[in-house]
Amino acid sequence: MSTQWKKRNASQATPKVVVLGGINRDYVILGQRLPRAGETVLGQELLVGPGGKGANQAVGAHRLGAEVSLIGAVGSDATGEALLQGLTEEGVDVSHVSITSKSVSGTALILVDSTGEKMIGTVVGANRHVTVAQVRKARRVIEAADVLLLQFEIPMPALREAARLAYRAGVTVILDAGPPIKSPEILWQHIHILRANATEAEALSGLRIRDERTSRRAGATLLKRGLQAVILPTEQESDLMLWNGSEAILPWFQVKTVDATGAGDAFAAGLAVGLGEGLSLIEAGRLGSAAAALKITRKGAQAGMPTRQQTHHLLLTLPQGGS
Ligand SMILES: Nc1ncnc2c1ncn2[C@@H]1O[C@H](COP(=O)(O)OP(=O)(O)O)[C@@H](O)[C@H]1O
Ligand SMILES: [Mg+2]
Repeated sequence: MSTQWKKRNASQATPKVVVLGGINRDYVILGQRLPRAGETVLGQELLVGPGGKGANQAVGAHRLGAEVSLIGAVGSDATGEALLQGLTEEGVDVSHVSITSKSVSGTALILVDSTGEKMIGTVVGANRHVTVAQVRKARRVIEAADVLLLQFEIPMPALREAARLAYRAGVTVILDAGPPIKSPEILWQHIHILRANATEAEALSGLRIRDERTSRRAGATLLKRGLQAVILPTEQESDLMLWNGSEAILPWFQVKTVDATGAGDAFAAGLAVGLGEGLSLIEAGRLGSAAAALKITRKGAQAGMPTRQQTHHLLLTLPQGGS
């Protein structure tokens, strides 16, 4: 398998991952089912905790063994302070997170049903204020990284600049394409690997994923944008990895769903850490898959992120796709 996206100094003990992404506070209500428009449903439990795809992936990558720097923004409010403190306690470097008085900290309201299906409303808030200048200030950190991990919670100019700097420095650039947006064509030339869920893949490719065949078709369309690899769900409890005319299926682990929030973030974190360590795409995908499976067995987008030891244990004891 080609490993062209691997950085020059792979196979090191501690990979360096830089995440440019959203930092939010999540309010999660766990209930039996999701409401219809205009309806009120009773929830069983309220969880208030840190979230945002960027922060989730940063914490996930650190727990899986990477040195992690997060670039982002929080509001100059009590929430922002608490979010920064939480990230610091987790071991994530937040020296490139700005604090803005222009907006409140990013906030997400999440409803989760008993099957793990969810509905989310968010206020972008401070995340909107991440600038190109801020990214340039973090240039040395970006260029020294093994992997740069991006999502769409940050303004496009900042994402583009970070991807460009990283790509030119030989850093592997991974885009986790949430929340769903239409095609930012100009970004593609500096992305190596795209990971998207079905909604995101449809927004980007215009193709609906229903099964393995349609996932392959959407993946092939996205690969043509110059990407080296694409990872999409099949909607049949597996993910499909496509690269260079090759492909692999990652069957999901059979685990009990407690809270699916952040599963995709755990996957992205595992993929980033694995590739940063110099693992093959398939091995890194398996690490991501194990991290995602463990995440959904535990509550909280960040609190539920597994450690490397836990993913190791799952990979040894529970065969992927087995029960
Ligand atoms: N049981 C499981 N085993 C392996 N991977 C899983 C499992 N459940 C979920 N995943 C992973 O999590 C991903 C969900 O991603 P996504 O829909 O983006 O979630 P999120 O909204 O948390 O980002 C799946 O595509 C898959 O890669
Ligand atoms: Mg996702």
